[in-house]
Amino acid sequence: MYDGREPTLQHQAMDALLTHAQASTLPNAAIIQQIVDFENKLYTAQVFDTQAQSLNTQGASGGPAALAQGQAGLAAAPNTFSLYTAWANLPPYAPAATQRTSVARGEAIFNGRPFIISNVAGINDLAGTNILPGTCATCHGNTNAGNDVHPQAQLDEGTGGSAFSLPAPDLPMFLITCAAGKSTPFNGSSVWTRDPGLALITGKCADIGKVKSAQLRGLAGRAPYFHDGSAAKLSDVVNFYNKRFSLNLSPQDMQDLVNFLSAL
Ligand code: HEC
Repeated sequence: MYDGREPTLQHQAMDALLTHAQASTLPNAAIIQQIVDFENKLYTAQVFDTQAQSLNTQGASGGPAALAQGQAGLAAAPNTFSLYTAWANLPPYAPAATQRTSVARGEAIFNGRPFIISNVAGINDLAGTNILPGTCATCHGNTNAGNDVHPQAQLDEGTGGSAFSLPAPDLPMFLITCAAGKSTPFNGSSVWTRDPGLALITGKCADIGKVKSAQLRGLAGRAPYFHDGSAAKLSDVVNFYNKRFSLNLSPQDMQDLVNFLSAL
């Protein structure tokens, strides 16, 4: 879960059985394990895009089949994603070449465009520096999947209550005041937030607003984005990052990134 409330898939399955499914007793551990084994064999990824067309031709490896065969883990930088490297130098007469080369440029921006990560609780405080050079892949580093390589890591990059948050007028705003002597790493001891995140689970002031870095496959099929749905479209996500981390992306860079994220 975004706020880390379920430590394992087994635990999640048991909670879902008792709450959603309203079971009066839990099945034995072998059945719980079968549910988890089933979940671990599900692979969801975009295999076709209306503009880039088939996502696993001409050397590209989009789609669930390649995802299922892939190796999870931290790739050597700068190649967290390598699905569309082969599309970088397509000749202009190749099918869907304009869109496909844009997807490849977006992948390269995701992997390698440098920026400074600052004021992110869960990263900058642990790294001991508030000027941390990084890329999109720093927090979305799992090879060709994009979730965080540290499964227990939760971060507050300011999606839900900072000066950079996208507007979400229907959501409530909570003012949380920390107990005496306690404060968040970067937001002081009195915090406005739409969602306390991990702090709801741990009860710790330092965890206010922390959620996990999302995995990025199948994005085109599951708008809206961010844990609170505050980004209606992928272009809203890219706009958020452009401002939040002063990326200085050109309109073409932004379009390339959106086209790449739409092809995952
Ligand atoms: C400092 C760590 C960090 C960096 C750097 C970062 N992200 Fe994220 N990303 C996160 C976290 C944490 C979330 C979850 C935020 C939320 O739900 O409120 C997230 C969520 C997302 C989502 C939404 C996924 C969904 O299912 O809702 C997308 C898309 C995304 N990031 C793309 C990017 C791109 C593109 C870049 C580079 C421009 C980037 N991220 C850089 C940490 C990071």
